[in-house]
Amino acid sequence: MVKTIELVGGVVRMLDQTRLPREVVYVECRDYQKVARGIRELWIRGAPAIGIAASMGIAVGAQAIKTGSFDEFMKGLEPVFQTLLATRPTAVNIQWAVERTRKLLAERKGEPIDSLKDFLLEEAQRVLDGDIQINRAIGRHGAQFIKDGDTIITHCNAGSLATGGYGTATGPMRAAVEDGKKIHVYADETRPVLQGCRLTAWELMEDGIPVTLITDNTAGAILRKGEISLAIVGTDRTVANGDVANKIGTYSLAVLCRENNVPFYVAAPLSSIDFSIPSGDLIPIEERGPEEVTHVFGCHIAPEGVKVRNIAFDVTPAKYVTGIITEKGVFRPEDIHRLNEPGADLEAIMMKAKG
Ligand code: MRU
Repeated sequence: MVKTIELVGGVVRMLDQTRLPREVVYVECRDYQKVARGIRELWIRGAPAIGIAASMGIAVGAQAIKTGSFDEFMKGLEPVFQTLLATRPTAVNIQWAVERTRKLLAERKGEPIDSLKDFLLEEAQRVLDGDIQINRAIGRHGAQFIKDGDTIITHCNAGSLATGGYGTATGPMRAAVEDGKKIHVYADETRPVLQGCRLTAWELMEDGIPVTLITDNTAGAILRKGEISLAIVGTDRTVANGDVANKIGTYSLAVLCRENNVPFYVAAPLSSIDFSIPSGDLIPIEERGPEEVTHVFGCHIAPEGVKVRNIAFDVTPAKYVTGIITEKGVFRPEDIHRLNEPGADLEAIMMKAKG
């Protein structure tokens, strides 16, 4: 399984995913500004992975703050938080990393600043290690819905590369394979940045999981032929009513799945669920520069000067989602808010595969 990101001796090493699959190159980030640049320029991408990168960026940024006072230390961290938060708005995971850091540091007020700095480095490593465990749990819960011989369609990349490892949407696929089930994955190429083509197809092939690459436009035809058993995608932010923000094109795929009676699952670690937002209409949606649409690998393919709209994510309404696969179990979208209720009986509302 490919290593997406690591923290070695206070330096963040991230795989530059813009160069995959042609080159496997790791970039070293020695300050938080370079980590932020890596997130903005998609060297690292995928909601959990950018949450991990943010935790590491905070830890690296903290090392450079010279003060003995807690209040000054927190003041020094503020530009680090704001720079990271400004990189990409849709995935909730950067916000999650910042809020978690604020809370953990507030609990440690009074400790020497040097131990807080060490603590942040250790914490970033814990976030990375914890993410892999979470994805394995998502895998175990989701694999019950995959049968031997199933064909699974996915969109974008919610695999090892989008996480600390193992992947969210690929978690159930990997767990099914570990259980000895034979599966086949259809990967949408995912225009404009081609995460499905360059990343999902590559990492599944590297790990020996059978995969077929299709253009985004082909999904409908394959679904209509009855060749797909289920869909599993990731999410950048799922909100309290079960609406799901994910890579542009996810909504179209979900509607096509409903039209063709194909179950549509979303793999969502709790860190990607934003219980504070009641509806998907309120999720901030990133729009990116026109060159991702007008150019393919540096080659200009569109008419010079054409107007472009490059919306990076869409929202799939909860009514199209069959189940949300989390590390705590699989839930109907209308029940997802219960995960935030202290003492909720999750066992009672968990979805279980038939048979
Ligand atoms: O623009 P990207 O590549 O960061 O978009 C990534 C996605 O849409 C993923 O599906 C999502 O972040 C979930 S990753 C486990």
